[in-house]
Formats: sequence, C-alpha cells, structure tokens
Amino acid sequence: MKEDIQEILFSEEVLTKRIKELADGISKDYKGKDLVVVGILKGSVIFAAELIKNISVHCEIDFMAVSSYGNSAQTSGVVRILKDLDHNIEGKDILLVEDIVDTGVTLSYLLKYLKARKANSIEIVSLLNKQARRVADLDVKYIGFEVPDGFIVGYGIDYAEKYRNLPFVGILKPEVYKK
Ligand code: IMP
Ligand code: MG
Repeated sequence: MKEDIQEILFSEEVLTKRIKELADGISKDYKGKDLVVVGILKGSVIFAAELIKNISVHCEIDFMAVSSYGNSAQTSGVVRILKDLDHNIEGKDILLVEDIVDTGVTLSYLLKYLKARKANSIEIVSLLNKQARRVADLDVKYIGFEVPDGFIVGYGIDYAEKYRNLPFVGILKPEVYKK
C-alpha cells in the first residue's frame, strides 16, 4: 500500500497536533451553544474521531453520507444523500466535519439542503483544503491544512475505497489512478 504513495504530506503526529488546535478553537467558539458535530461519511471518520476527543464542550454527534466522486478521481458534480441526519437540527449549532474540500460542490449542495431545517448556525471544519480547484463560493470556517492539487489519500481519505487506513496524509502516485 505504502509503495503507491508519492509523498507523505502530514504525519500522524503533525495531524493530531493540528487537530487538537482546531478542537481548542471550536471549544472556545461553541461554549454555551448547542453543538452538533456532523461527520460526513466516510472520509471524515478518522478526523472526526480525533477532533471529537479533543472538544471540551458538550456536543452531540451525527453523521451524513453523500456520494460525490463514485470510484473515479474526477468529480461528477452530482451529489446524492445516501444517509441523512438521525436528529432534528432546528435551533442547533451544526458543525459539518469534512475530510477535504476540493471544488466545494459537495458541501455547497449540502449547506443548501440543510439550511431549510432552521439550524441556529451551520459551519464547516475541513482537515484539508484544495483551494486551487475551488469552483463553489464556500466559507470554510476551520481548515487544518492547505494541500496541493494532487490526488490525496490516507487518514480516512480514499482512492476507490482504498488507502483510508493509512495513518498519514499523502499524495497518491499518478500512475496508480491513471491506470
Ligand atoms: P468537492 O465537492 O469537489 O469539494 O469534493 C468533495 C469530496 O471529494 C471530498 O469530501 C472527498 O471525499 C473527495 N475528494 C476531493 N479531493 C480528493 C482527493 O484528493 N482525494 C480523495 N478524495 C477527494
Ligand atoms: Mg468526503
């Protein structure tokens, strides 16, 4: 598996340190609020788990699953809700947890979809941000790291459902996905 990685961008140590910083900021900002942390499956699970462990204020946890990429490295622009929230979010302060924001199409669609439910607030935290490829106008409040425009895998992030279990974030060798 590791032989398919061109370059390690962030080690597990670097990731956990940065995630702790994000969680500290979030804990400050959401003091006295009605926080619901919503992990976007499946890519955000490792990040969400690490983040939640470090949040020091009360929070609920929920998950949504959307499909954006299918099995290819190209965005389809089509977003489908595969799993919706378990609970009513009216009046709550929602924090969407994403693995990586690329074009921004997936999250701007999700935001529009959730805004109809009268949450008190909806913000986004993303472990990684690929600003170079952004097409949607999207406000990502908390960002772990900026990444270059390569195909990123690891720490929950996949290529064709593989590499999620790598404990670090790296760039996949182009020959792996251009095959
Ligand atoms: P967007 O709609 O283009 O912002 O894409 C959002 C989703 O595409 C992310 O949540 C990821 O699941 C996936 N994605 C975007 N870039 C990458 C990448 O470099 N590697 C793996 N998945 C990615
Ligand atoms: Mg995702």
